[in-house]
Amino acid sequence: MEFVNRFLHGDCEEVLKHLPDNSIDLIFTSPPYADQRKNTYGGVAPNEYVDWFLPKASQFLRVLKPTGTFILNIKERVVNGERHTYVLDLIVKMREQGWLWTEEFMWHKKNSYPGKWPNRFRDNWERLIQFNKDKKFAMYQEAVMIPVGDWAKGRLANLSETDKIRDESKAGSGFGKNVSNWVGRDMVYPTNVLHMATECANRDHSATFPVELPSWFIKLFTQPGEMVLDPFMGSGTTALAAIRQGRKFLGIEINKEYVELARKRTAREQIGLPGIAEKKAAYKVAKPRSKNGAKAKP
Ligand SMILES: C[S@@+](CC[C@H](N)C(=O)[O-])C[C@H]1O[C@@H](n2cnc3c(N)ncnc32)[C@H](O)[C@@H]1O
Repeated sequence: MEFVNRFLHGDCEEVLKHLPDNSIDLIFTSPPYADQRKNTYGGVAPNEYVDWFLPKASQFLRVLKPTGTFILNIKERVVNGERHTYVLDLIVKMREQGWLWTEEFMWHKKNSYPGKWPNRFRDNWERLIQFNKDKKFAMYQEAVMIPVGDWAKGRLANLSETDKIRDESKAGSGFGKNVSNWVGRDMVYPTNVLHMATECANRDHSATFPVELPSWFIKLFTQPGEMVLDPFMGSGTTALAAIRQGRKFLGIEINKEYVELARKRTAREQIGLPGIAEKKAAYKVAKPRSKNGAKAKP
């Protein structure tokens, strides 16, 4: 099966059986959350979620390279007044399956509007859980460095004696810091909290994440030309991010309408990709429109 730079229609568990072992560098995905959006693309009952997900995770484990990373964007929902444990249960079961639970990132949705609930506040963040097959996974930290920020001006201008030496953690964690290492640096490493706005422009799919989100992880865990898989692809956001970052992609989606949506959404960006150029894209690319809505002449 041809799978490079493709959108494939079907159940990811079945489609992935056609892929060779150890062929993917990064899996980045947001599966249906338990029972949510039942009316748009279905849902799985929270108590059945782990059993539903594990056979798929087993295929992800098989196709991921030993140096690769799997990022799972998910959040536990509230059931009968308390957070359900299906995400935590899933982590435990995936560890038993052979995964390492290496890290966890938080996506803070920085454009949320306020709300009022009797016993909780606006749910304003989601988990991005990192799994690996091996402790020696590929990671390119320089690719996501950020400007040092204003804090440095005051803090680094007034260094204490402790700031000038490596200060070991008082908790005995083995982690330490030497604040003076950052004097004169313009760029620093980010934290594991990502502040990104939610996607509001894509109205044809109800659960899109912003292109910025997969882009960040694609830069961190892959190099140009490497292979990114989104097995629950929806409207193709991960593929869009992969193309823009010069990576190869495979998107799998069970709903045919969303496969078409993803193809249309990425059509213009795919021209020139290997396997696409010679076919001049397998689908129609919309002509650019002028300001009054008329199709522009080629
Ligand atoms: C949360 S949405 C993904 C949205 C996507 N991140 C985006 O930005 O558009 C989950 C998607 O998984 C699809 N899906 C559900 N079960 C699937 C399966 N077994 N195999 C492949 N796709 C599936 C749903 O149709 C839905 O579009």
